[in-house]
Amino acid sequence: MHDKTERMTSVSTDDGTQPQKRTSSFDASAFIARNLRLSPVPGLANIQLYTAHSGSRLSRLGGTDPDAPAPYWAYGWGGGAVLARHIAENPDLVHGRRVLDLGTGSGLVAIIAVKAGATSVVAADIDENAIVAARLNASANGVAIDLLHADLLDGAPPVVDIVLAGDLFYDEALAKRALAFFESCRATGIDVLIGDPYRVPLPTARLRCIAEYSVPDFGLGSDGSEVRAGVFSLDTVPDR
Ligand SMILES: C[S@@+](CC[C@H](N)C(=O)[O-])C[C@H]1O[C@@H](n2cnc3c(N)ncnc32)[C@H](O)[C@@H]1O
Repeated sequence: MHDKTERMTSVSTDDGTQPQKRTSSFDASAFIARNLRLSPVPGLANIQLYTAHSGSRLSRLGGTDPDAPAPYWAYGWGGGAVLARHIAENPDLVHGRRVLDLGTGSGLVAIIAVKAGATSVVAADIDENAIVAARLNASANGVAIDLLHADLLDGAPPVVDIVLAGDLFYDEALAKRALAFFESCRATGIDVLIGDPYRVPLPTARLRCIAEYSVPDFGLGSDGSEVRAGVFSLDTVPDR
């Protein structure tokens, strides 16, 4: 893995009412704990995640930075939900194995992998706030995960047995990079499991659907409506 060491903000408080330029003294962890609500995850017993609500004022987390990433980690996505459900029901997929959860967001898939008996779980995301949220969520669910603030997609395959990716195929350019990375993982014998509610950039022709569930997806709205979502394996390219 070509690591970029996880960067974390240090402790202080932010009680201002206007969006502010975030500084290294802004405490994202305290903000999330204070402004988001620990909520149950439908279909997954005893799992709760810090989830945004109408009073969360999430815009304050990005401050005035126009490049601040969207706070995907604050919502439930069909891709992570379906992958988490499938792993919870089939723990052997990760039991005794080293796991990378790529694009971890809230950390849901990583948390479920620990609970299913993975020997190690690394949760990676390019969004610093996702790393903070995933740490809080892991703690709220009584597990420890290794967190990595990094973009691994242009690097060498990681030293793991299985890569999990929930809802990473939401953008065409990202989907191309992700597929190339996952192909390189498969070429070195690493298993790849993807959860996705059939978003347009999902490369379905290259994937094999191994399970389907109906799960909630924030992309459809926050009213709890469900969407058909699949768990997909990436098979090795057959030799010609
Ligand atoms: C739609 S969210 C899904 C989060 C989580 N896996 C789930 O299903 O609930 C996509 C996540 O992928 C992250 N992401 C996007 N590009 C990435 C990259 N190149 N490497 C790692 N994470 C990435 C985003 O920051 C975001 O947290």
